[in-house]
Amino acid sequence: MTIFGVFRYAPEDGKARFVDYQLDVPRGTTVLDCLLKIKHEMDGSLSFRYSCRSAICGSCAMTIDGTNRLACKTQVSTLGRVVKVEPLTGYPVIKDLIVDMDLFWRQYTSIKPYLIYRSSPPEGEWTQSPEERRILEEPSTCIMCGACSSSCPVIWTDERYLGPAALLKVWRFVADSRDEAEEERLGMINNEFGVWRCHTIFRCVDSCPKEINPTEAIEHLRRAAVRHSIRGLFRRK
Ligand code: F3S
Repeated sequence: MTIFGVFRYAPEDGKARFVDYQLDVPRGTTVLDCLLKIKHEMDGSLSFRYSCRSAICGSCAMTIDGTNRLACKTQVSTLGRVVKVEPLTGYPVIKDLIVDMDLFWRQYTSIKPYLIYRSSPPEGEWTQSPEERRILEEPSTCIMCGACSSSCPVIWTDERYLGPAALLKVWRFVADSRDEAEEERLGMINNEFGVWRCHTIFRCVDSCPKEINPTEAIEHLRRAAVRHSIRGLFRRK
């Protein structure tokens, strides 16, 4: 028998509390399976987001036993007999395990998360060498679940900080051989709310369900920003 202590919050009465649900959990069961069982068989008012059940859509990111994880990817057998399930930290709770991700999406869209090119794109396929593609492998794996940004204490204290998810995305485009907006992109992050606000706390790395390293991406961007600034100094002389 496993006890799930699930965070409950109803906007109607504004009361937050944990409610315990006891479940028999067979091997191979995920936390999302258990939340669905609770919803369908014990309490239909329990609210949470989910969609693909395959660790691709990122919808079911939540805090499980103190760590941000995907509920669909987390096997209950890897947890203890009592499992605490809470909404992602740092975002306002709408209901139960559902948070308002508006801040996350504002940070994400502010960095122009798409290819920018000044010259004409090629007529046919836009080829890259295996090495150029390899650099994009890790940052392209991001499913934008918000687990990293939600776990970053710097964002908790100052939401003007772009955060690890948006910065990882900047690196994904700066590193892309097809993108022609390096100067504009580095200008977005070479400031007190960009890469220089990261305190290398590494919680973003620990919480990523796809094993991406946003801190390393921030390091790459810092080096690129410094190189770019030095080039600018020489150009002015
Ligand atoms: Fe935050 Fe990750 Fe930097 S947790 S402070 S973005 S290393």
